[in-house]
Amino acid sequence: MGTKITWWGHSTYFIETENAKIVVDPYLNENPLATVRAEEVVADYILLTHGHFDHIADALEIAQKNDALIVANFEISHWFNTTHKYEKTVVLNTGGIISFPFGKVEMTHAVHGSQMPDGAYGGSAGGLVVYTNEGSYYFAGDTSLFLDMELIGNRGIDTAFLPIGGQFTMGPEDAVEAVKFLRPRLVVPNHYDTWDTIKQDPHAFVKEVEEKTQAQGSVYKPGDIVVDC
Ligand code: NI
Ligand code: MN
Repeated sequence: MGTKITWWGHSTYFIETENAKIVVDPYLNENPLATVRAEEVVADYILLTHGHFDHIADALEIAQKNDALIVANFEISHWFNTTHKYEKTVVLNTGGIISFPFGKVEMTHAVHGSQMPDGAYGGSAGGLVVYTNEGSYYFAGDTSLFLDMELIGNRGIDTAFLPIGGQFTMGPEDAVEAVKFLRPRLVVPNHYDTWDTIKQDPHAFVKEVEEKTQAQGSVYKPGDIVVDC
């Protein structure tokens, strides 16, 4: 098997490679649209973009059950170590890149907050680029549009997972601008429709992407396989 990526709703993704199962930003049990329960998840790694509840809600449960390695910034890593006595973490801060058996993970910046659910300081919000043998995948996390996305695009991104919900993140119009900077082959919208205040039309977004950029866009339902190569 190569790299398979499944969307579990909101910003939660499940990446499977030949030698690893990886969850990105697990928000399942409290997400009305999720199709998977936290207790069903089998994972070796948990990658976190920032500390907000809708990105880490099920991280501890999945980590404890699977003895999984949590990859997060210094403050979030420390929070799991101290507040939750969960020691199996590795720090990855903005600009850092770490090699794992499945490939590399890089933390980019994001323009957003990162407070933990209990009010603790969560450091800087980030995005993640996951590099496997099959490709490079940019998980923007929660962010506004920022010009440095052009630098992330210089790495050569195969698939960009971008928030389009508005209110908490950039909305569809700015996400189209983001695609121009990132220059990915495929664009996948996320972080919309979970709540009433972030209802969006992902099909209209994808149409705009294909009219205004070189990228292809695709809309998925929670539970769908997005990448399989
Ligand atoms: Ni957030
Ligand atoms: Mn969020």
